[in-house]
Amino acid sequence: MTLSWPLRPQTRSLLLLRPTSLVQAALGSGSVSAPVQERAGAKEGLRTVKDLPKVGFLKLVYRLLVHGYYNRMHELQLYEKALYGGIFRDGLGTVAVNRAELLEEVLRRDDRFPVRGDMSLWKEYRDTKGIGYGPFTEEGERWYRLRSALNRRMLLPKESVLYGPVIRDVVRDFTHRVQVLRESSPTGDMVQDVANELYRFSLEGIASILFETRIGCLEQQIPEGTQEFINSIVQMFSNSPYVIVMPKWSRPLLPYWRRYNAGWEGIFTFAQRLIDRKLEQIERRVDDREQVQGEYLTYLLSNTDMSLQDVYGSVAELLLAGVDTTSNTLTWALHLLSLNPEAQDRLHREVSQIQPDPPAEEITRLPYLKATIKETLRMYPVVPLNARVFSEKDVVIAGYHFPKKTPFTFHHYAISLDEQTFPAPLSFRPERWLRDGRVLPHPFGSIPFGFGVRGCVGRRIAELEMYMALFQLVRLFEIRPDPSVGEVKSLNRTVLVPDRKLNLHFKQRGD
Ligand code: HEM
Repeated sequence: MTLSWPLRPQTRSLLLLRPTSLVQAALGSGSVSAPVQERAGAKEGLRTVKDLPKVGFLKLVYRLLVHGYYNRMHELQLYEKALYGGIFRDGLGTVAVNRAELLEEVLRRDDRFPVRGDMSLWKEYRDTKGIGYGPFTEEGERWYRLRSALNRRMLLPKESVLYGPVIRDVVRDFTHRVQVLRESSPTGDMVQDVANELYRFSLEGIASILFETRIGCLEQQIPEGTQEFINSIVQMFSNSPYVIVMPKWSRPLLPYWRRYNAGWEGIFTFAQRLIDRKLEQIERRVDDREQVQGEYLTYLLSNTDMSLQDVYGSVAELLLAGVDTTSNTLTWALHLLSLNPEAQDRLHREVSQIQPDPPAEEITRLPYLKATIKETLRMYPVVPLNARVFSEKDVVIAGYHFPKKTPFTFHHYAISLDEQTFPAPLSFRPERWLRDGRVLPHPFGSIPFGFGVRGCVGRRIAELEMYMALFQLVRLFEIRPDPSVGEVKSLNRTVLVPDRKLNLHFKQRGD
């Protein structure tokens, strides 16, 4: 029996496809300027952006191409931190911040309606088709109103557990799939390309919440429509870098622009079909005077003043943000647990203390389970880079004056591997997140879901999916590395992914 996954989606996640951060990430650093000095003429005697260590464009290109950092840009963060310290100007003129206390200084000054960067490339397709903007593309007060609507029923822990039963079904199908895969493997216990399997799991999980229907990613043969949808996501993301770097005049001449738009077309066609179907169901139930109760999509369609076009826009963006972030974090968690049997045993002891199929509330109270995900996100912050542009005001950070509209980029990878904040930063120690049996909140040294009002809207859903999946996997199996895989490193495909196919052994507990 073959359980094929025709297209391994090496998708590029949207967070780093913001032009500001992507180009910055792609182009990195350059030569160091003269040491920081006080400058005459700086506002009120403060130093200015010109006083920062500066990296030149050519040096950056050299590092990317000659040093080979082009697909390990998170590692470039470590290299640059060692050279330039906590704050410097990169080759594109953005201010790079890579120490926790400076990050806090910046984020505490967040605007009322924070901006990450220019999303015009995402807007173009929507504009031509009249589709509304979602949380990534919307700005200003309209963004704030949109987020207020989207946050409800999603962002509070007690609301997210309402999706527990939906996720439980998806987790059940996933563990069943793991069983089938391992049993049909030559060793009887191996699952090949775990990241790929978890991509299926995450897409199914988030789609089941956003569309309130199952789309078949965990079936042996993925339904054709779903596969086309996945292909469209891949196509949109894989053509994005060309859209960003190529001049506009080349669009009619080269294939990337057509392909990029065809990707969006496929994404929205699929999403619209499922959303329209839900809307019809709701209308029928309203006509029949039945009470409309449901999950997230029903809420968006019937309880907010969002237009249908806005719902299309938002659901598509939530979906794109919610797949490879969650799936790769789970991949890293399994990888780390496989390499750290003591931590895995401790986690297994914790999950074995409660009933096998507990309600979500109970799972979300398990401290070591939560600490495991926190520690995974510290070591592999799947979104290793983030950004802000202060559009409303000038700011003073670390004694430097920055005029409004100065773009900042945050080097989360370098920050969360800082030895002073996290002793032995390369060691996997979930217990560092525990104090007197309680789980510590994220400090600025590790904010994998971002910060403040513009922070991740899907955080609670992601956590719930990851906790519930990890709970069952660790309960059922002892997870071990496969020696033939060798040392696994991370690549920056906008989210951090393993640099090779990760095969793991899932030894049945009690065997
Ligand atoms: C491990 C999983 C995830 C991680 C680490 C993650 C991380 C992030 C980060 C760092 C941001 C930027 C926040 C900021 O700028 O302060 C963000 C934004 C966002 N995330 Fe997530 N995310 C995850 C899962 C999800 C899921 C499951 C969804 C969908 C349900 C989602 C939807 C979004 C959206 C829509 C935004 C943009 C919010 C806005 O600009 O208003 N994310 N995420």
